[in-house]
Amino acid sequence: MTLNSHGLFEEKVIEVQHYTDRLFRFRITRPQSFRFRSGEFVMVGLEGETKPLLRAYSVASPSWDESLEFYSIKVPDGPLTSRLQNIKEGDTILMRPKTTGTLVHDALLPGKRLFMISTGTGIAPFASVMRDPETYEKFETVIMVHTCRDKAELQYGFDTVAVTKDDPLVGEQAQKQLLHFASTTREHSEHMGRITTLVENGEIFRILGIAPFNPEEDRAMLCGSMAMIKDVKAMLESKGFKEGSNASPSTFVLERAFVG
Ligand code: A2P
Repeated sequence: MTLNSHGLFEEKVIEVQHYTDRLFRFRITRPQSFRFRSGEFVMVGLEGETKPLLRAYSVASPSWDESLEFYSIKVPDGPLTSRLQNIKEGDTILMRPKTTGTLVHDALLPGKRLFMISTGTGIAPFASVMRDPETYEKFETVIMVHTCRDKAELQYGFDTVAVTKDDPLVGEQAQKQLLHFASTTREHSEHMGRITTLVENGEIFRILGIAPFNPEEDRAMLCGSMAMIKDVKAMLESKGFKEGSNASPSTFVLERAFVG
C-alpha cells in the first residue's frame, strides 16, 4: 500500500462495534509496511474540509495482528469523533505511518509484576500489551486495572481479556498470568472506587490476593484521564517508583488518553 499525497495510509474499516453512547471500537485493514511496538499510538482520522483531521489513537491490537483495532470515545461536538462515530464497514480511514509512545516494554526496567492502570478509553494500549507474548515472557504476573463511571463502560475490558485468554498465541500464558480488576465509580458493581482509593486502602491487593506495591519488583503503565494520571503518578512516586521513557527506562510510564 502506498501513501496518499498527504503521506497517509488510506485503510478500510472492516468492523465497528458500539459499546455505549460514549464508546465504540473499530477495526481497519493493516498496511503491509506498517510496523509498531505493542502499546504505541498513531495519528488516525478522516478527510477534513481542507486537510485531513487526525488525532492520536493507541493501537489496541498487538504488534502481530493482521488488522488494526482502535477504541474510541464519542464526543458530540468533537471535530473528529462526532464524525468518526458514524463510520461503517468499507469506509476509508486515514493513518500516519509513524508510531510512537512510552507504554512499551522498552521504557520499563525488568520486573516481576506489571500493573496496567487505566480509566475509560485509556485501556486501549493495554489491550495491545496484554496480547503480546513478550509481556508474559518479561513478567510473571500482569494485572490489568480498569476503572470507569459505569458498568457498560467496562465491557470492552471484559471482552478483550476473554479474547486474550482464548488466543492461540498467548491464551495459555494469559490464563495463568493475567489478572483483571474492573471497578466503577458512579454505578453499583462488584468492585467500586477509584484506583487511588483502592490502592491506599489496600482493597485491590486483598481482592486479587496479591502483595502491595513494591518498586523493587513491580512495574506500572498508566493511561487515562489527566486527573487519574496525575494522582496515580504522585502515589507511585511516594512509594519509590520513578517515571521512565524510551531513552531512560525506569519503573513506571504514563500517557494521557485522547479525549476530543
Ligand atoms: P469519578 O467518577 O469518581 O470521577 P472519565 O469518564 O471522567 O474520564 O473518568 C473515568 C474514570 O476515572 C471515572 O471512574 C473517574 O471516577 C475516574 N477518575 C477521575 N479522576 C480520577 C483521579 N484523580 N484518580 C483516580 N480516578 C479518577
